[in-house]
Amino acid sequence: MTHELIASRLASASSNATSGNATASGWWRDAVIYQVYVRSFADSDGDGVGDLRGVRERLPHLARLGVDAVWLTPFYVSPQADGGYDVADYRAVDPLFGDLSDADALVAAAHALGLRVIVDVVPNHTSAEHPWFRAALRDPAARARYHFHPGRGPSGELPPNDWESVFGGPAWTRLPDGDWYLHLFAPEQPDLNWEHPEVSEEFDSVLRFWLDLGIDGFRVDVAHGMVKAPGLPDIGHGAQATLIGTEPLPFFDQEGVHEIHRSWRRLLDSYPGERIGVAEAWAPTSERLALYIRPDELHQAFNFRFLNCPWDPAAMRTVIDESLAATASVDAPTTWVLSNHDVVRHRTRYGSLDRARAAALLMLALPGSAYVYQGEELGLPEVTDLPDDARRDPAFHRTAGQDGLRDGCRVPLPWAGAEPPYGFGPGGTWLPQPAGWGDLSVAAQTGDPHSTLELYRAALELRRAMPGLGAPEAGPLTWQSAPEDVLLFTRPGFACTLNTRPTPVELPAPGRPVLSSAPVETDGRTVRLPPDSCTWWAM
Ligand code: GLC
Repeated sequence: MTHELIASRLASASSNATSGNATASGWWRDAVIYQVYVRSFADSDGDGVGDLRGVRERLPHLARLGVDAVWLTPFYVSPQADGGYDVADYRAVDPLFGDLSDADALVAAAHALGLRVIVDVVPNHTSAEHPWFRAALRDPAARARYHFHPGRGPSGELPPNDWESVFGGPAWTRLPDGDWYLHLFAPEQPDLNWEHPEVSEEFDSVLRFWLDLGIDGFRVDVAHGMVKAPGLPDIGHGAQATLIGTEPLPFFDQEGVHEIHRSWRRLLDSYPGERIGVAEAWAPTSERLALYIRPDELHQAFNFRFLNCPWDPAAMRTVIDESLAATASVDAPTTWVLSNHDVVRHRTRYGSLDRARAAALLMLALPGSAYVYQGEELGLPEVTDLPDDARRDPAFHRTAGQDGLRDGCRVPLPWAGAEPPYGFGPGGTWLPQPAGWGDLSVAAQTGDPHSTLELYRAALELRRAMPGLGAPEAGPLTWQSAPEDVLLFTRPGFACTLNTRPTPVELPAPGRPVLSSAPVETDGRTVRLPPDSCTWWAM
């Protein structure tokens, strides 16, 4: 599809929305959204860290890939204790990434290419360098916007409760004056107290600031965390990290967060052009997750149960069915995702490039929206041998190396050339890139019909051409009988087969093959599905 066509789609979607026909347009219901981890996408100034100008210069890659929108991870002023998820000024660009005029130029350039732009908002916590927290450190009377409490024990030497940080260790840090403050993440990320009226007023204003600049939506960081159970009760048993997303916890998925999302939805809807909210929410069940995307709340919520699903056809089918049922119950589409900046890349999780390619075609065939994490279109593996002193993930250092795999999926992208930095920028790279990534670069894969990049390009082009792919409105997904270890589903005009076996499988051809993650052999009546492969069929 040409840029002109994309631009005209965008224009008509916007005009529908401005004329008050927002639900009819619903661009986000089947959008493919590309996650740019700004630090690691493209560097324009040679400091080894990706930046907004680098993103702008590489936007043609994304337009050619065929995605609908771009999600930019935080680029705000930050001490970078957690890759920018520790924001010190929500209305300014960190000099590491550029300035506000670069943000403005990036949004304008993306729109000119027909790409929408989503930015991160981090409302659960600020940076410890935020003016509010600095004031709180100086003056106990200025602490109400955070969770400050006296400790337990005879001299207050024990934390106020037993909560643990997601990054390991206690979720509380004590100040020299004796008070403790809550941080569900690193100590440099104090949790905000959303009971305080100034907190919600401030975030309304921050959202307006970026909406006025023209962005098309927000990815809401820790959207399940802002409200804590009254009285901050103990959990009572250890191993809290394993409970996140599986059990109700007094600091996650509390009812009160929904009121915040409802008010943000009203704010988003007060702007023309269908601006959206995307929840990064960890909820114990698909049904609880669906509550975040009720018609008066956010538009999308990442389906992490799909992301966490092993290479097992029965488990995949169950997750797909349960996710579709849960989101249908609130009349919302499902938002599929395989990789992001917080998890091991799915090529490595699934154990091979063949499976990664197959999983991508499966995801892109499902009804709903899908997120593509930068580099998955190149088939990048996780980098598992980073030297300890290069690692930046705060979790790595807080858990004595037990955890901290998040740096391995954040290694700067290879664009061209045979040696590091592979066209990432004119200088080095903030994390070292492996040898041999030249063959995985955008330049090396472009034009090679067997490359993963060309597979993604072809898949996204077909997704636009065949309504049975993606668009939830096109009709139901129906499972058909298939040999063991094979999944076969149909949608109007379309079929998808997934062979999860390490050996080929023969079955009656469900139609005419239009795209496959590995070469298929068919005589028109029967087909031999290659090992670990996914094939799309026109019917
Ligand atoms: C989200 C982000 C992650 C960050 C955390 C704390 O989970 O995706 O990168 O560390 O929130 O803000």
